[in-house]
Amino acid sequence: MRSRARARFFASLAWSAALATAAFADDRFGFGQPVATLDVAAWNVDVAPSGSLPAGQGSVADGLRVYASTCAQCHGSNGQGGPMDRLVGGSGTLNTATPVKTIGSYWPYATTIFDYIRRAMPFDRPGTLTNDQVYAVTAYLLNQNGIVAPGAVMNARTLKGVVMPNHGRFIEHDPRPDAP
Ligand code: HEC
Repeated sequence: MRSRARARFFASLAWSAALATAAFADDRFGFGQPVATLDVAAWNVDVAPSGSLPAGQGSVADGLRVYASTCAQCHGSNGQGGPMDRLVGGSGTLNTATPVKTIGSYWPYATTIFDYIRRAMPFDRPGTLTNDQVYAVTAYLLNQNGIVAPGAVMNARTLKGVVMPNHGRFIEHDPRPDAP
């Protein structure tokens, strides 16, 4: 009995020692470094539909230039016919036997197009576009999808005002009775 109690005592000592080592691991081994506020800010750029968009603006015409030089090789000359995702068209097809889901026909928020392009595109060089270029190429794609006029300029205010065609057709809450 006594030796088992002693074994438990030593096991618990070893456990606290392990915890203490973990707690001070950074001091002891020089792991990691404090994260600078600016470094966090550089990554913390996502924009939710209710979130705030950055300063900047871009027209459909500017967007055509950005699109032709940085997007067309993958997405096709007018947003379709390229090797990667089709970005234009599909309007009115979602409730047919052959739905064509594009950012124009399917996505519920225009701000998500800005957010996605700014963080993820061009696929091979994400993060290389300026905010003005992202606004512009978003304006161009919205125009190609027939959602904004050819003279449209997108900025924080106008982009939030764009109502996407499929906006009202999403179920906000999970209807399953056992879902939280
Ligand atoms: C090197 C090829 C490549 C280039 C260049 C590129 N893309 Fe993409 N793009 C992709 C791929 C691959 C996907 C799909 C990514 C995935 O599903 O994870 C994609 C997806 C997208 C989507 C989402 C489509 C959807 O319906 O889900 C958008 C919007 C988009 N790209 C916009 C752009 C824009 C704007 C540019 C230019 C600034 C661009 N892309 C440049 C390869 C590319």
